[in-house]
Amino acid sequence: MTENIIRTVKIKRIINECEAVKTFIFNMKEYNTKGYIHPKPGQFVMVWVPGVDEVPMSISDYDEDGNWAITVKSIGECTKALHGLRIGDYLGVRGPLGNSFTLPDDISKQIFLVGGGIGMAALKALSAELIERKFKFTVIEGAKMDGDLMYMDEFQVCNKDFSQFHFCTDNGSYGEKGFASDIFENLIKSYSKKDFSKLIVYACGPELMLYKLFQLCENYNIEYYASLERIMRCGCGICGLCAMDPLGLLVCKDGPVFNSKTLRKLEDFGRHKRDFSGKKIPVE
Ligand SMILES: Cc1cc2nc3c(=O)[nH]c(=O)nc-3n(C[C@H](O)[C@H](O)[C@H](O)COP(=O)(O)OP(=O)(O)OC[C@H]3O[C@@H](n4cnc5c(N)ncnc54)[C@H](O)[C@@H]3O)c2cc1C
Ligand code: FES
Repeated sequence: MTENIIRTVKIKRIINECEAVKTFIFNMKEYNTKGYIHPKPGQFVMVWVPGVDEVPMSISDYDEDGNWAITVKSIGECTKALHGLRIGDYLGVRGPLGNSFTLPDDISKQIFLVGGGIGMAALKALSAELIERKFKFTVIEGAKMDGDLMYMDEFQVCNKDFSQFHFCTDNGSYGEKGFASDIFENLIKSYSKKDFSKLIVYACGPELMLYKLFQLCENYNIEYYASLERIMRCGCGICGLCAMDPLGLLVCKDGPVFNSKTLRKLEDFGRHKRDFSGKKIPVE
């Protein structure tokens, strides 16, 4: 379910995750118990900084008491303004929006979470849900360099019988050298053909990485879900800025999570996105 009204929330806690990345925690129930909708992993919110802009952010964590988290990388006007906020400051939050990651019924599935950079935010919420539901999973987190990796402390305390972690950097300054998709490709080399049907990959991060993972999963016949990013204005299916050709699916409403069956038909996936004017530009 989605919720399209803006709620005013007070920032309760701020965590410095790594270079240029902060997590903001606020409570969505406190002043708004009526109509409160509990989020699902993969959903996002539109975050309004008064006087600046409204931008999409994955819900990176949530609990039963209505505390939600967003993890923000400072890259432009609105995210810089967000980074300037302090505990006690107010935000406008609209959500949860979009669809969510589909989890299997079969607890014996072997799950991979493959994330690059700030894409780990969506996978963080998913990892918490998997822990709760006692799924076994492997996280592959990639970043540009040492100092850019997120959530390492939280991942270190996870039950090692249930979860494994691989960290990699583009320049090898921490963990394995290479992209998260390369590490995934190496890991699955030890699997046999019949094992591939037991694997599921959930991914979020730079689109070229998502596309590479898609191709690998197609080659090996592995179930795959990717959470996509597009520039968004309304976040709720009105403006059309996040449309994916040729189906016209909207990342804000039909996504952000798409499975392989849909990705196969989306010619824009891995190739084109729209800028703020709606003009198509190549994805990087
Ligand atoms: C579903 C979804 C979930 C997201 N989750 C997160 C998250 O958890 N944490 C996080 O830090 N960021 C996330 N983003 C990206 C975030 O929305 C953008 O970084 C933000 O809108 C930039 O706003 P700005 O005003 O700071 O930058 P601007 O000044 O508007 O732009 C700076 C640069 O970022 C590019 N940009 C702007 N908006 C987007 C966008 N929506 N997607 C990709 N590039 C963009 C611009 O083209 C420009 O090059 C998500 C985006 C989507 C669509
Ligand atoms: S952002 Fe407006 S339709 Fe998706």
